[in-house]
Amino acid sequence: MENHVYIFDTTLRDGEQVPGCQLNTVEKIQVAKQLEALGVDIIEAGFPISSPGDFNSVVEISKAVTWPTICALTRAVEKDIDVAAEALKYAKHKRIHTGIGTSDSHIKYKFNSTREEIIERAVKAVKYARRFVDDVEFYAEDAGRTDNEYLARVVEAVIKAGATVVNIPDTTGYCLPSEYGAKIKYLIDHVDGIDKAIISTHCHNDLGMATANTMAGLLNGARQVEVTINGIGERAGNTSLEEIAMIIKCHNDIALDTTINTQKIYPTSRMVSNLMNMPVQPNKAIVGRNAFAHSSGIHQDGVLKNVQTYEIMNPQDVGIDVNSIVLTARSGRAALKHRLHTLGIEVEGEKLDGLYEKFLKLADKKKEVNDDDLLILAGADTANNNHIKLDYLQVTSGVGLKPMASIGLDIAGEKFQAADTGNGPVDAAINALKQIIKRPMILKEMTIQSINKGSDDACKVHMQVETEGRVYYGFGSNTDIVAASIEAYIDCINKFVKK
Ligand code: KIV
Ligand code: ZN
Repeated sequence: MENHVYIFDTTLRDGEQVPGCQLNTVEKIQVAKQLEALGVDIIEAGFPISSPGDFNSVVEISKAVTWPTICALTRAVEKDIDVAAEALKYAKHKRIHTGIGTSDSHIKYKFNSTREEIIERAVKAVKYARRFVDDVEFYAEDAGRTDNEYLARVVEAVIKAGATVVNIPDTTGYCLPSEYGAKIKYLIDHVDGIDKAIISTHCHNDLGMATANTMAGLLNGARQVEVTINGIGERAGNTSLEEIAMIIKCHNDIALDTTINTQKIYPTSRMVSNLMNMPVQPNKAIVGRNAFAHSSGIHQDGVLKNVQTYEIMNPQDVGIDVNSIVLTARSGRAALKHRLHTLGIEVEGEKLDGLYEKFLKLADKKKEVNDDDLLILAGADTANNNHIKLDYLQVTSGVGLKPMASIGLDIAGEKFQAADTGNGPVDAAINALKQIIKRPMILKEMTIQSINKGSDDACKVHMQVETEGRVYYGFGSNTDIVAASIEAYIDCINKFVKK
């Protein structure tokens, strides 16, 4: 059996299904190019029939990317497959990913069908997709809860129909690693013609077992993994790319390999987190802020004597630049351009001039500008054409004073202003904002984090605002904590006024 593990990245499809984290086409192209530089084999670029935006993203990513295969998702429905084939028109290497639910509950409740009829539909869809492309992947949705004997019949039938890859998703994140591994082994042992297709894992993290299940799949013969950057995805997310890539790199004993350039992992993680406004939990394996931080005295002592005492990999292996040049107000354009380049952002000419100006303003407010600050500055550049912009904000608060705020908004070029009070400066500013944007909005969650350290540091605010039963995510960053909060609130509003 070959040792190469194909990395199928679904950040832009399954990952992007997180409510409120949708990217526009330009941002998706940026991520796709970074994934290409990272060395993934396949990019699942979208579900073209689901919306014109998804269709367009698949078209544009197909044009922008050269080496990885571009994959488009469909249901086992001819119209979906027609649209996917059309969206993949410009891809240099293309794949259609079609499939249907195979567990008894999907067959009965979702399709009101029978096991035999589902096999017929699966075979028909694969044959139909093969009319357009040579590379067809079949997914057996909810395979994790599908009876193994029946699953083997489905897999055998679709391989006979021309599927080149068979995806065995643990859609609900239910399986135990031993159970998922045994499922893959069962297929290898019982499916006639299994050697003609690659078996793929697709694990969700509802019980925190996605990475363990994916590894169990690989150890039992799967050779493709479906993963996302930072493990993002609906609910508890998908298997994270960086965990699988680093497990394979650190464990020579399992003799597997990937084409991932691991030094690009950290910049890719930062880019996805910033574009999607999805913070990475500090203790996240590989890419969390604390992943390499040793705080206990015993650990620090050991690491100082020899890093191998407590570190199984180097931060540099995943692209964390421990000696990164710190930018200050005295840094020039070239230093800024170089730093952005190492973060996967290419800027030239006027765009670089604009960013440099903003960089100088920030560097005036805080002593050192770090990578997160830069990613936020670069991201803020794309927010310039937002419908609603903050014009000004003035707040008074303090002990013995009633907090008050006055705010000015620019809504599509028209100016609005209002003032209000609240139980604190953020509450007062939000109340003033609500005087202008008169629609029911509930602040569901708000997290404030400092980017680095020091009282002059910029802070990041992540927010969730609910309106008309849907939750929207927003982000703001500023050295002023109230301004960052209001920017995050306005970011949420811009998301739902876009709809
Ligand atoms: O989780 C799942 O089953 C999926 C399929 C559509 C591949 O995402
Ligand atoms: Zn999924």
